[in-house]
Amino acid sequence: MENRGKFITFEGCDGCGKSTQLRLLSEYLEKNGVPHIFTREPGGGKISEAIREILLNGKNSEMTDACEALLYAAARVQHLSDRVEPALNEGKLVVCDRYVDSSLAYQAYARGLGTDFIGKINAYALEHYLPDVTVFIDLTPEAAFKRKHGADENDRLEQAGMAFHRRVYEGYKAIAAENPERVVCVDGNQTPDEIFTEVVRILKERNCL
Ligand code: TYD
Repeated sequence: MENRGKFITFEGCDGCGKSTQLRLLSEYLEKNGVPHIFTREPGGGKISEAIREILLNGKNSEMTDACEALLYAAARVQHLSDRVEPALNEGKLVVCDRYVDSSLAYQAYARGLGTDFIGKINAYALEHYLPDVTVFIDLTPEAAFKRKHGADENDRLEQAGMAFHRRVYEGYKAIAAENPERVVCVDGNQTPDEIFTEVVRILKERNCL
């Protein structure tokens, strides 16, 4: 479609500074009058937010890895239809906090379910809604956890421990290496303003701004 909007996703380990960048981008887009929507995964709609509650609820510790992966994929398909597709069709810029690369990093690499299985259950997203640009905030989990004060102990994923988050990080590095045309790595050790300057430069280069 000619006037289809651009689809941008942000990825990184828990506590990498993604939220700060999304806030800065939101202010920038408002100031510059860029038609856009902000959304997030898992979530971004009534049904997907309900699935998010199940996924992130610390009480659901008996959930199997495969169930977890399928719920993320299910929430994703619903979210694409509820929010992403309509906005792209209106020519808006869609900025999404996490997307299919999170499933690859967390479920395929860190949980060990493998990229074949995760690729298969996310085929719809990968085939029809591959992001135009994915910004990966490259910060190790060790550095991220140091920064993140007051982490929520009831968050089921944060209970998984440092070894898990290390695998997530390695997963992201592998994804970035395999998709150099789509995934742009930004050094997360810089100040928020420095990171944001890079983010804006990247998005301008890719004609997203
Ligand atoms: P959230 O509180 O939104 O974390 P963050 O602020 O770091 O984005 O929780 C989302 C969690 O869900 C996060 O730990 C990553 C995880 N996740 C997956 O494991 N697989 C996925 O496909 C997605 C989208 C998220």
